[in-house]
Amino acid sequence: MWKPDRNSKQPLYQQIAAYLEQRITLGELPPGSLLPSERKLADQLGVNRSTIVQAYENIRSLGMIESLTGSGTRVCGHKWGMDPSPNWNHYVEGGTLLPNLPFMRRIREADQSREPFINFANGELAPELSPNEEIRSLMQSLPFRETLGYGDPQGYVPLRKAITSFLHEQRGIQATDESILVTSGSQQSLYLITQCLLSPGDAIAIENPSYCYSLPMFQSAGIRLFGLSVDEHGVKPDDIRALYKQHRIRMVFLNPNYQNPTGAVMSPVRKAEVLSCCEQLGIPIVEDDPFSMTSFDEAAPSPIKALDRSGSVLYIGSLSKVAASGLRIGWMAAPEAVIRRLSDARQQMDFGLSIFPQWIAAHLLESNALAPHLERLRDSLRLRRDVMAEALYRKLGSKVSFELPQGGLSLWCKINEEVKDYGLLNNGIKNGVLFIPGTVFGTEPGYVRLSYARASIEEIETGIDKFALALRETLAK
Ligand SMILES: Cc1ncc(COP(=O)(O)O)c(C=O)c1O
Repeated sequence: MWKPDRNSKQPLYQQIAAYLEQRITLGELPPGSLLPSERKLADQLGVNRSTIVQAYENIRSLGMIESLTGSGTRVCGHKWGMDPSPNWNHYVEGGTLLPNLPFMRRIREADQSREPFINFANGELAPELSPNEEIRSLMQSLPFRETLGYGDPQGYVPLRKAITSFLHEQRGIQATDESILVTSGSQQSLYLITQCLLSPGDAIAIENPSYCYSLPMFQSAGIRLFGLSVDEHGVKPDDIRALYKQHRIRMVFLNPNYQNPTGAVMSPVRKAEVLSCCEQLGIPIVEDDPFSMTSFDEAAPSPIKALDRSGSVLYIGSLSKVAASGLRIGWMAAPEAVIRRLSDARQQMDFGLSIFPQWIAAHLLESNALAPHLERLRDSLRLRRDVMAEALYRKLGSKVSFELPQGGLSLWCKINEEVKDYGLLNNGIKNGVLFIPGTVFGTEPGYVRLSYARASIEEIETGIDKFALALRETLAK
């Protein structure tokens, strides 16, 4: 009789699961056959019952066996080995792209459930904050005459021209339509950079905390992440030099304006210093700048790219945070050699973005309606921020602290008592409110990111009540 090998490095329960799985697949245990009880098999194999419980659980999760109260554990009704459908459970655990972080999956599942949650987790605009009427009216008034073939993977030329003018007029960036790549949101720029410009084992520096920590795409690409601490002016050039010396970092990823998650803005002097430091070291800066046009002040903070005369900055922008995340319009302004390489990758990946959102974005960027929309958006976001801040003071007082962000979509909130992220999120979900625990962005526990952009004003009030309740419940435990 087969027995597990106690000298093997593979855990006993895995050996037993693999043995049973093989017998089922080979038809030795045909569909419907009864497996021994956990206790009996444990006795036969000379292991603990808990080992058999784990082994059965393992093959049950593959859909091979089922346990029904009163009738024991049986091989499932399909004909193993003759069933034409593949065992997808084996496939979905493969691939090179890692699954999302468990907290992010939990939040997404809750958001997609039928429960009505107040959503402070998603960093996106509420439907009423998008320029829906403006888009509808330009779609009605302008004739669409484009052909529907594979377009240019670098992006629709009129959109690249519109982005070039927008960057020049609004962000002080000199670019040509040859140095612009249209992407499916900023996210795709980050993905293309990791896939095409970096190699497994490469080290990069990112702010700590940072949106990048929340993206398993970096780990999937084998990139090593090193955090840069941030003072009131932003990251420090000396820290970049130290990381370069120690780990030969190959790029610096920064989100200098209304940083996600902290809302911090890097000072103009520090921007110039960081650029000159990276120029001396000969390493590029990836400047991720999706939030600057949400500035609650008249003037949006200037990007590092506006100072870049050496072609050291890969500048990433997007319409997601100022118009509509569902348009999936983003862009990169970068040296032409980089744009050519990434456009070639786009052709291999998806042949470029659909013409429809590109056509809409080109007209939106050039329309007279954009400036008034941005003005209204800034006012609405400032109001939402104030309502959230006020509700937090009122409901939680000194239990929490935060800086009032001057732009962006979210508030970075420190909890001034020891609290476990997992428990807090669970209690939040139980009470009907979603938010992102700070550890997702690489911090120690005790922070949360609360987005004020997605919920309505009324929901913000109620949502903070629910958040306060969840926090009190978690602290009481
Ligand atoms: C800093 C930052 N970069 C990039 C993205 C991706 O945005 P999108 O792909 O919608 O432009 C986000 C989204 O939250 C973000 O916060």
